[in-house]
Amino acid sequence: KNSVLSSRSEAVTFSTMFRSEHPRRSSSHHEWRHNKENSNALADDVPEFQAYDGTPRSQMPDDLQEEQNRREHHTDLFASPNLIVRRGQEFRISITFDGPYNPSKDGFYVEFRIGVNPQIHKQTAIIVSPNQDNKGPWQSQLLENKGNIIEMGITPSANCIVGKFLMYAVVVAPTGLIRDKENSSEIYILFNSWAPDDTVFMHDDTERMEYVLNQVGTIYCGSISNVMKRPWHYGQFENGILDACLYLMDDATIPLISRGDPVVVARQGSAKLNSQDDNGVLTGKWSEDYSHGRAPTSWTGSVEILHLYASNGVPVNYAQCWVYAGVFNTFLRCLGIPSRVITNYNSAHDNDRSLKTDIIVDCNGKIDKKYTKDSIWNFHCWNECYMARPDLPLDFGGWQVVDATPQETSDGLYRCGPAPLYGIKQGVICYPYDSPFVFAEVNSDVIFYKRDKYGKLTKVSVNETYVGKMLLTKAIGQDVPINITELYKFPEGTMQERLALQMAESYGTEKDRSVLPKVDVEMKVTVKPVTLGEDFQLVLIFQSLGRSLYNVDVFVSGNVMYYTGVSGPEFMSTTLQVQVDPSRQKTKVPSKYMNKLFGHGNLHFFITGKVKETGHMLNIMHPVSLISPQLTVKVTGVPQVNQRMFVTVEFTNNFGFSLKDVTLTVEGTWVLPPKTKTYSSIAPASTITWTQSFIPMDPGLKMLMACLDCEYLRQVCGTASVYINV
Ligand SMILES: *[C@@H]1O[C@H](CO)[C@@H](O)[C@H](O)[C@H]1NC(C)=O
Ligand SMILES: *[C@@H]1O[C@H](CO)[C@@H](O)[C@H](O)[C@H]1NC(C)=O
Ligand SMILES: *[C@@H]1O[C@H](CO)[C@@H](O)[C@H](O)[C@H]1NC(C)=O
Repeated sequence: KNSVLSSRSEAVTFSTMFRSEHPRRSSSHHEWRHNKENSNALADDVPEFQAYDGTPRSQMPDDLQEEQNRREHHTDLFASPNLIVRRGQEFRISITFDGPYNPSKDGFYVEFRIGVNPQIHKQTAIIVSPNQDNKGPWQSQLLENKGNIIEMGITPSANCIVGKFLMYAVVVAPTGLIRDKENSSEIYILFNSWAPDDTVFMHDDTERMEYVLNQVGTIYCGSISNVMKRPWHYGQFENGILDACLYLMDDATIPLISRGDPVVVARQGSAKLNSQDDNGVLTGKWSEDYSHGRAPTSWTGSVEILHLYASNGVPVNYAQCWVYAGVFNTFLRCLGIPSRVITNYNSAHDNDRSLKTDIIVDCNGKIDKKYTKDSIWNFHCWNECYMARPDLPLDFGGWQVVDATPQETSDGLYRCGPAPLYGIKQGVICYPYDSPFVFAEVNSDVIFYKRDKYGKLTKVSVNETYVGKMLLTKAIGQDVPINITELYKFPEGTMQERLALQMAESYGTEKDRSVLPKVDVEMKVTVKPVTLGEDFQLVLIFQSLGRSLYNVDVFVSGNVMYYTGVSGPEFMSTTLQVQVDPSRQKTKVPSKYMNKLFGHGNLHFFITGKVKETGHMLNIMHPVSLISPQLTVKVTGVPQVNQRMFVTVEFTNNFGFSLKDVTLTVEGTWVLPPKTKTYSSIAPASTITWTQSFIPMDPGLKMLMACLDCEYLRQVCGTASVYINV
């Protein structure tokens, strides 16, 4: 019988062996991109099987105790039956030998290999043994020895590579190593926010339930004056999604050795989610022709998108910010990085990373579209992911902004973050990645310029509070928004806010410091919530701040708008004259928009006031999101496992015209994969009803969501939930 070598010399034997097997190749940059070190899908041919020589042989896979391991590792929700565990936490396996196992004599190891050319010093090959202390980063112990069967506990290091490993039984024999290559088992290892040593550790269990385990969510949209929401099915545990996420990392050519670092995984993930410059998951489209794909508003979740991408390997058409954020959230939660979707209302999209968003007003008091290059999005969605930042000073851990929507390139690629939230709030924007960009998205000043007929620009007014007016995310454990503005900035007008701005300036952002003449007239606008299809009134409120009377020429223009800030056709343009005195005065301006309506039902009003006596200009931008009709979603049948149930989606066209080319999508967590139906036309006053049956296979709360989408109606969604009994 072979004697077991000391653990020290053994480690040497192994690592030498792995190195000499695959001498390092030198490669050009091009080769590097396609290098196998960036692939989890490829695995090399393991070294030759050696003849049986009488040493006790194990049979792997034997008992991976999937059920218990998955429960203890919070991976039991995954649809695939595989062994899926989280790093930094022990899992157990049983191994059967064909003779009694003797810990002091028999050299036996469990070996984990990932990718081609696994090597111990890269942590792409790991060996653990039941019978002695491990010197490597992974721990193991012999839990029980029942003669022919042993139970082993294995703890992957809390910073190990995340992905799919192959697990082998290896026996040390006088002739060398015997690796039972026919008998490998797959094991997926994920990030672990339950493990204190993992950089994605979270303290609070309710937070982990929401940010890692919740498969459904709500994404806020609309505008500041009318917050609307969309349900979103993240579906991170559904069949095929974990493999799709690993494929995404392969496709993003994230080197295997970096896949234990959530900073790298989140950053490269943000680049790969968009199709710009790397053929990523989703193609963005911000104009109305969606004929080569599906409208961004028609998706109900990430599952179908990730399946399409993983099976075809080409970008899926089409996305806008909430689609990028929804799919990115699936990717992060699936791998175990806590994450959430954020909505920033009035999000500045700065081209030059200054803190100035310039709006040019023409002599008629309208936005001069030709000369206005910056844009402000009614809302913009991004993600936050939670992790320590060992690469940065201590306080910069915690929530990090990552954004997969292609806006600006970062180090040559369309990607953004992770940018530490703490630094954005404090104005300490020198730390990676992309902090100045995110800082500007929530802190820019809007500066209005008048452009005269000779092209001369004069600064006329500034709004320092318009941008980043409010940030929302879904609350933990319930479907209501929480206002997280205070995580991004200090309250307006406080000393801390000023200090944060000064700090940001010291890192090179530019703030407008010019002093404008004192305003003599105040102008405000209010609009009551408006239902799509109804006409409404704008209420303008004026007040003279001095004692004098002023005459103000007012220009009101209204445009239909994509949420991105790209404006569509103008539907109204009115001028009026008001006399303003020191009391508050209301002026009502009727607005008719229906014949011009399309797209997302977002309207954008731009109001300019010119004070005759002083020549001062007042400017207001006011986005209005129209309240969409609801989709009724009802669930009927006996809510019990293995009983047929029905989901019925109903919609009535209350508009005075037919809706053309309508798509209706419905899906449910675990119970119903996405289904789509199209209607060529829905006549006025008619109702469509669509029923799908499903059979719930397991108990618990299930969510069903549906969205209706057509050219004239882009935000029509509904949800229903049902509790399935055993
Ligand atoms: C494992 O190896 C043993 C012995 O070579 C073989 O009989 C058994 O079928 C293998 N099991 C699997 C699952 O491949
Ligand atoms: C800036 O815009 C916000 C949001 O529309 C508005 O409430 C505020 O009154 C504006 N401030 C000025 C100075 O115009
Ligand atoms: C959101 O929070 C900010 C900062 O805490 C606060 O100033 C603002 O009024 C809040 N907005 C709403 C609508 O509650």
